[in-house]
This record gives sequence, C-alpha cells and structure tokens, in this order.
Amino acid sequence: MSLLIGVPREVFSGEKRVATVPEVVEKLIKLGFRVTVETGAGDLANCSDDAYRAAGAEIAENAAKLWSGADIIFKVRAPSDEEVALMREGCTLISFIWPAQNPELMQKLAAKKVTVLAIDALPRQLSRAQKMDALTSQAGVAGYRAVIEAANGFGRFFNGQITAAGKVPPAKVFIAGAGVAGLAAIGTAAGLGAIVRANDTRAEVADQVKSLGGEFVKVDYEEEGSGGGGYAKVMSEGFQQAQREMYAKQAREVDIIITTALIPGKPAPKLITAEMVQSMKPGSVIVDMAAEQGGNCELTVPGEAVVRHGVTIIGYTDLVSRLAKQSSTLYASNLFRLTEELCKTKDGLINVNFEDDAIRGLTVIKDGEITWPAPAPKIPAAAAKPAAVAPVAKKSSHGHGEPSEPMSAKSMAIMFAVAGALFWLVGAFAPAAFLGHFTVFVLACFIGYMVVWNVKPALHTPLMSVTNAVSSIIAIGALVQIAPPEVGSVARPDEVIRWLAIGSIVLATINMFGGFAVTQRMLEMFRK
Ligand code: NAI
Repeated sequence: MSLLIGVPREVFSGEKRVATVPEVVEKLIKLGFRVTVETGAGDLANCSDDAYRAAGAEIAENAAKLWSGADIIFKVRAPSDEEVALMREGCTLISFIWPAQNPELMQKLAAKKVTVLAIDALPRQLSRAQKMDALTSQAGVAGYRAVIEAANGFGRFFNGQITAAGKVPPAKVFIAGAGVAGLAAIGTAAGLGAIVRANDTRAEVADQVKSLGGEFVKVDYEEEGSGGGGYAKVMSEGFQQAQREMYAKQAREVDIIITTALIPGKPAPKLITAEMVQSMKPGSVIVDMAAEQGGNCELTVPGEAVVRHGVTIIGYTDLVSRLAKQSSTLYASNLFRLTEELCKTKDGLINVNFEDDAIRGLTVIKDGEITWPAPAPKIPAAAAKPAAVAPVAKKSSHGHGEPSEPMSAKSMAIMFAVAGALFWLVGAFAPAAFLGHFTVFVLACFIGYMVVWNVKPALHTPLMSVTNAVSSIIAIGALVQIAPPEVGSVARPDEVIRWLAIGSIVLATINMFGGFAVTQRMLEMFRK
C-alpha cells in the first residue's frame, strides 16, 4: 500500500506559506504517493482546495483528520506542541526544525517515536543537495522581497532617468552581507537600475557580487572571514573597527541599505549604528533582514517598520511569507526533489537511507532516536574549499576528481631509476633515426602533460579545441607534397598524391579555423 502524504495548514502566526502546491501534488502522485491537504492550507498562497482536488489530492476537513491519517507530513514551520500531540507514532515529518535552537521540541518528537527530516539540516555543501536546499530557495525570495520593500518605502525611482522635467540620478543601494539573500538583493536592485555596492567578510564572494552587477567594497584590513562550510565567523576587533569606518562612509553616501549579515549560532553582528542612521539622507531606507536574529542595525524593531532620524527602518521578519505563492512553489519543489531521493523505486514508499550523505544529514530523528548532529559528509577536497581559494583541481586517473596523493620521495626515485634504465636500453640498441623520433615523442608527452595538468579543469574544453586547431598544422606536410612533379618523372602517382594533399589541406584548414573559432567563443564566455 502506497504511503499517504499529509499537508496541514500552517498554524504559526503570520505564516502564509504551504508545504506543497497543486503542480507538485501531481508529481508526487506520479511517484506513487497519495496526498491529502488540510482544507484552506493553501488559501494564503493562492492555492485553493479546488486546485488541490483537481491535481488529485484529497481534502481533509480539519487538522485532526489530516494528522491522524498521514504517513508522511510535509510542513513549513516546525510543529507546535498541539501539532506534535496530533502526530501518529511511526510517521515521518519533513519540515524546518532548527534542532540546535529547539532541543525541547526534539525531545517531544523523539518521544513520539517518529522519524524527522529537518530541511534546514541539509548538508548544503554537497552539490547533489542543491535541488533540495530550501534555505537557499527561501533566502533568495527574501532577498528579492527586501528590495521590493525598500522600493516601496523609498520616495524616488531606482533607475536614473532623463525626463523633460529634468535629470533624476539613480538610487544608490548598499548591501551588507553577500550570502544567498544578499546576492538575490544585489541582482534585484541592479535589475531595477540602481547603483549597487556590497560588502561581505568573506572575500571570495567579490566575483559573485560583480557578476550580478554590483561593486564589491572592501574593508581596509587583511583578515580571512570564512568560518568554514561557506559561512562567516566573528571578526577581530581591528577588522570590526575598520569595517565600521567603511560602513559609516557608505551610510553618508547611499539611499538604501539592505543588511543580511549572519553568523551561524551567534547573534547577528551589529553593523549599522545609530550615528550611521542619523548621517543618512532623510527619506533613506534600511531593510534589516537579520531582524529575527537580533538585527544588523541598532535601531531595528523586529517585525515592524519604524522611522528614526528621518530614515525608514524595516525589520519585517516575514519577508518570505510576503511572497507566499513564490516561496511555497520553490519550497514544494525542494520537498519533491527530496521525496524523489527517498523513493528511488517510484512506488510510493520511502527509504531513509543512511548511506546517502544528504539523507543522513537531514535525518535528525530516526524511529524515535535522535540522530542529530550527523557526521560531516564526505566531500571531495576540491569541492569543500571555495572556488576562489581552491588549488587547481587535478583529475585522478580514475576520473573521480579525487585529489591524487603526492608521490613520496622514495617512489619518485624508483620511477626515475626505471625511466633512466629504459632510456639507456633504447639508446644502446635502437637505430639512430629511431632515437631522434623517440626523443621528440618523449618531450611532446612531457609538454602535453605539463600543459593539460596546469590548466583549470573548466578550461579543458577550450584547451582541447585549440589543440585540435594547432594539430591541424600537419597541413604543412601536405603543402610539401603538393609541389608539382619534377620534369621527366612519372606523372600518375604524383598526381594522386597531389590530390590527396589538396584534400588534406582542405580538411585540415576546416579543423584549424574551426578549432580557433570555437576556442575564441569559449574564452569569451569566461571573460564575462
Ligand atoms: P548566512 O545567511 O549565514 O549569512 C549571510 C552573509 O552574511 C554571509 O555571506 C556572511 O559571510 C555574511 N556576513 C556575516 N558576518 C558579516 C559581517 N560582519 N559583515 C559582512 N558580512 C557578514 O549565509 P547564507 O546566505 O546562508 O550562505 C552562506 C554561504 O553558504 C554562501 O557562501 C553560500 O554561497 C553558501 N552556500 C553554499 C551552497 C553549496 O555549496 N551548495 C548552497 C547554499 C549556500
């Protein structure tokens, strides 16, 4: 019998999202599951009961019926005490849990003998896990919405305009923290035509900021800001002082500040002081996306928009819910991808497989036993480090991309001794003509190895195409052959060779020009 997925109405005050949407219900049914949605669950995200019914779901008339029948519960917010009480023993819950912040909830869920997959515990660094990464999908929505809220509170255009009535300068936006939400905000503000600047303690995000149309503003102080796993750390007092000076300067210059800075397990760093707010132009706007974690601005009131010193400070904590249809659709898609991983057999049954790093990371309780925190997933060393600081990745001979062990001095010496002996044998016994060719061959292999292995893997395709073009210079050989037959020689065989040579010149020319053209186009892509 296939399992029943239940989707309750969210009970957290102000929460408008729903854990699945009608389009995804259809896909879940195709995977073999049955789906029940509590009546009204999707109302605030523009998903009506009728739309769920049309997609193939049943509608449960109240929470008690929904929870008592479901084998798997899809939720957005961590369950309330009342919801935990409604839970059936042995069922599986998939939702945000934040186990580190909610130890009591974890105990209550464990006592219920359930299995819990905390979507926030996903090992985000696994590239395979990206499609399930709800933290990223929701942060992207929040970053977008922060810019829309800022535009709503700001009295001018974002883009510069030249009108008959005069020239309007573009708005200047400063983004503090360029993680997922910050990058989404940069892209949105730049798309609206503003001049965007951004800062982050992790220097590796500078390129990402630029690629989205922003300018990365550095703090004049050398300190590495990565605290591991792509997250930030608390910076030294010296750095913070230098950062405050830079932020104070930005506050005087810009019209809008959007702050997104967070450090896992720590209160949000205070980046915007009361004096900085005071120094901003009247009518400016600050959107503090870290309001829920204590705020990046000293004057933020969580959950509210307030005006201080003529500056509107927006501390909404429900930015994602303010775009409920979009965030629900993305969240539903993340949960669907996770369900696919849990149900590889496509028969409406799930397998919480601990051999799978992504599933292991997510599973915080299994059959009533707390399995959180999960051991760190096994990640290839090249992927674990941010691209900007990673050494050139070397392909292993097995093609798995694992870093090859550096050769020990002993094995290196043995290798050289064997190679030396082989050369001596070849030199002693082979004919002189062969020796010349052999030397060229060995040197060509060596140069080829050095060239390919010192080029980043991402550039291997253009490298191959240019090699293709260069190798076509064999056309020179054909050019030698194309010379007219000498007077008095037998004409026929030379004519054949001549035509063969002409044919090979034509083919080699296509290869040569095609190879250079393709390389050129590929390198253009990297220059963007
Ligand atoms: P977050 O929400 O924890 O922090 C937001 C940003 O604030 C971070 O970029 C952080 O460096 C910055 N920040 C912290 N303290 C600051 C300070 N004092 N001043 C200025 N900026 C400060 O981070 P989020 O958005 O969850 O992403 C963190 C990282 O995880 C990013 O690098 C992201 O690309 C990475 N990530 C990686 C994934 C993967 O490898 N597949 C998937 C998702 C995210």
